[in-house]
Amino acid sequence: MSPEDPAVVSRRIARESLTKDDPTGWFEELYAAAENGQAVVPWDRGAANALLTDWIETAGPDGTGKTALVVGAGTGWDAELVADLGYATTAFDISPSAVEAAKRAHPDSKAEYVVADLLDPPAEWHRAFDLVVEIYTVQALPISLQANATKQVGEQVRPGGTLLVIASARPEGLADDDVEGPPWPLTRAAVEAFALDDLRLIQLDETPHPTEPSLFRWRAEYLRD
Ligand SMILES: C[S@@+](CC[C@H](N)C(=O)[O-])C[C@H]1O[C@@H](n2cnc3c(N)ncnc32)[C@H](O)[C@@H]1O
Repeated sequence: MSPEDPAVVSRRIARESLTKDDPTGWFEELYAAAENGQAVVPWDRGAANALLTDWIETAGPDGTGKTALVVGAGTGWDAELVADLGYATTAFDISPSAVEAAKRAHPDSKAEYVVADLLDPPAEWHRAFDLVVEIYTVQALPISLQANATKQVGEQVRPGGTLLVIASARPEGLADDDVEGPPWPLTRAAVEAFALDDLRLIQLDETPHPTEPSLFRWRAEYLRD
């Protein structure tokens, strides 16, 4: 019997976990299965996100003496880029296997990789980071969890700090019930919803996906007053 297609296994793992009403359990199952070659991690690009790279080239942030938090860091490519800017970088993921994979992929990393849950983050992170980077994590959670996840992302930004969010854009006119996640891409309103309390949206770009131009991605930058 030939082994099952890893892409099919990945989808099955997600579907079964969501059916059991365990919306985050499948990430660990997926990373663990990928470790022994039985599944693929579909979002693992082996490189930093191009919209993050572009933001860094344009904004030129200097992380010297500053702190950064990378949300849902997966195998760590974005965290490595941020840490190389000089930020004391904490990169977290709910999946212990993802954290181990990140450490293995970047043995000389300057970033600290830790297991943590965005929906219940460590209290000491509250408003503690000069830069928070969130890429594709909130959209990986069912819509019913996204408001809390969105709030928690913003709550880790310190006064004067920056939040950068990169997410897939939900096609116009698609209702919540019609989105067959994962992922559950974000509406413009969902992106604007990161601007809670004194976190202000200062830049919002919508760019076509490089290989699928009918799909769009948000890149949003916020500043906490
Ligand atoms: C779609 S992947 C994106 C990974 C990475 N940010 C990227 O862009 O390649 C979502 C990541 O968030 C992690 N994740 C999901 N729910 C989480 C939670 N509640 N807390 C922390 N990490 C979470 C998953 O394990 C996964 O690595």
